[in-house]
Parts: sequence; C-alpha cells; structure tokens
Amino acid sequence: MVKFREEIADLKPYDPGMSMEDVRREYNVQKVAGMALNENPLGCSPRAKEAMVNALDSIGDYPDGNAMKLRGVLSSKLGIGAENILPTNGLDEMIGLVAKAFVDKGDEVIVADITFPSYMSAAVAMGGKPVVVPLKDFTMDLNKVLESISEKTKVIWICNPNNPTGTIVTENELIDFLEKVPSHILVISDEAYREYVTREDYPHDTVKLLSKYENLLVMRTFSKAYGLAGIRVGYTMGDKSLLDKLNRVRETFNVNALAQAAAIAAFEDEDFLKKSYDLNLEGKNYLYGEFDKLGFYYAPSETNHIFVNVGKNGREIFEKLQEKGVIIRPMGGSFIRVSIGSMEENRLFIEKLKEVL
Ligand SMILES: Cc1ncc(COP(=O)(O)O)c(C=O)c1O
Repeated sequence: MVKFREEIADLKPYDPGMSMEDVRREYNVQKVAGMALNENPLGCSPRAKEAMVNALDSIGDYPDGNAMKLRGVLSSKLGIGAENILPTNGLDEMIGLVAKAFVDKGDEVIVADITFPSYMSAAVAMGGKPVVVPLKDFTMDLNKVLESISEKTKVIWICNPNNPTGTIVTENELIDFLEKVPSHILVISDEAYREYVTREDYPHDTVKLLSKYENLLVMRTFSKAYGLAGIRVGYTMGDKSLLDKLNRVRETFNVNALAQAAAIAAFEDEDFLKKSYDLNLEGKNYLYGEFDKLGFYYAPSETNHIFVNVGKNGREIFEKLQEKGVIIRPMGGSFIRVSIGSMEENRLFIEKLKEVL
C-alpha cells in the first residue's frame, strides 16, 4: 500500500452536501432553493459575463500567471501597491497556501470554535496544532485569543464577519488586538462577506492598517457579493515579504483567464454590488421578522447568511427541508445556517420550514 503523510490521517474531505440537481432528481421536486453555500441569488454582474465571453477568444493561451491587469485594477481602486496584492483561485487556495508557507510541524494556529473549517484542516494537513477559542456571544473573543497565544503560536485566523455566525469584530477591537499581538505572529482577516456589512463600526478599510501591521494579511473574494463563486477568484493583501512567501508555493497559473477577466469587470460594476447588498438586506429583514414570529433566536448577521436556533434537531430539520427542495446547512444541535436567497427563495424556505416544524 502507498503510504500517506500521517498528518492527514484524521482529515475528512469537505462535504458540500447534495447539489440542487441531485435534490431535484432524488426527491422529484419542481422548485429547489439552494440556501446552503452563501452564494449570490442574483448570480454575477452582466458585465462580468460579457468579459468572460470575450476572454474565450484567447482561451487557447495560458492566462497571465501574475494577473497583472487584475492586480492593477485592484491596486488603483484600493490605494495599495500591486505588489501588495496576490490573487488566488478563490480564498480556498489561499488558506492552503498560508499553511504551506508558514505552518511547521507543531506550530499552533489559533481559530474560533465555530468558524470556516478550512483554516483548521489546512493547518492540520501541514502538521500544525489548532488552538480552538470559544466564541463569546457568537463573536470571536479577541481577549481569549490573546490569552491563548504561546511561544508556538504561528498564525491567528479572524473570520470577519464570521462564517457561520455572521457576527463581526469592530474596527476598534481589531486595532486594539493588532497592537497587542507580537509581530512575528501572522494575523489573517478573512473578509469574504465584507460587502454585506451594514454596521459602521466594522473595519471597512483594513487596507489602511496594512502598512502599520506588517504581520497582517487581508483576504477578500469575488465568490459572495460579486456572485462569481463558480469561476474561483479571490485576493489577499499584505506586506510584500509575506506575499513573496505565498507566491513561492502557489501554482504558476493559479487564476484562470476567465476568472481574471470576470473579476476585473465585476469589481468595476458598483451598481451590481449595490443591488446585491439591497436584496440581501431585504431578505435578512424578512427572515428576521419570520424568525421573530416563530420565537427563534438568531445571531445578528452582517453577512448573507443567518445562524438560527430552530429549537429542534438541526440535522433532522435539514433533511426534511431537503426532501421538500430547500437546502440549508445543519450546524450542530438545534442551530442551522440559512443563506439569504432571492425573496422567492426566502419565502419558500419559510413556508417549508413551517411545514417541517
Ligand atoms: C469565510 C470564508 N472564507 C473563505 C471562503 C472561500 O471562498 P472562495 O470561494 O473565495 O474560495 C468561504 C466560502 O464560503 C468563506 O465562507
């Protein structure tokens, strides 16, 4: 038998659940609402679609391995050097690169107990040791994180806003935290859902923190509010010397040509972004209202998903909803996470939820 690395012995492959097509076929339902993966119900900007069609003309060529044009567009709009930006094949790729470039066997990586699971699995795959800090009021507890720092700490992951709870760390909390973290520890702020944030005390402009805190990386994606999850593109910003290390371990042509073209067009379409934000807010308020009527607790969400306590076994609710064509995510115990969809999907979810309850 071929031997594999012992670090991956206990890792489980990520389970994205059944696809909408599978659910349609398996349960013979007409309407299926995919509300499990925090995608954009509007799809993507028409300008991004057009850019992808145009990019097909040169699909026989390799893409620009350094994504110069995309980095240029991001750079001029965000007010940061192109050399401080590294695009990747979604943030999923970057999470793996961080572990590959920075995590040695035995290094400690601090993560919240309820957060995006890849931070932990990527660290474990490299022999890192996760140090898990419980959330406080469904929010990352930065004081507890500071107390958890040891000589072995190498990386700290802050998912802001947090998936799956939707809660935020405020700008003041983040700055106060960065002041206290020793500068040899890498701090990563994953801002996958930043475009949906409504609160003013959120750190909306972390770019300005990067020159002061050279151990900070900021990650953003085109998969959520920009609606480009299927084409896979995100980017990370930070100090040149950190990005240089990540650059050494990435694939040569990590961001495909369609993704580069789509990201440039999507980034420039602010109207689409506004539409996505408005629709999400409308859906969130509708779902909050319905949850209130049902007497359900939910964590205040600054994202496109809601972490809600349905008062019954979440996995059973998930299975019954799926049979009726609504796909959500069970979160352990009586919590589920539901992605905010189109208003039609939101209404269908509530209708089916009431039936299964
Ligand atoms: C918090 C968070 N980070 C990263 C990702 C991965 O994003 P991408 O589609 O850019 O790989 C996700 C996807 O759901 C996410 O929720």
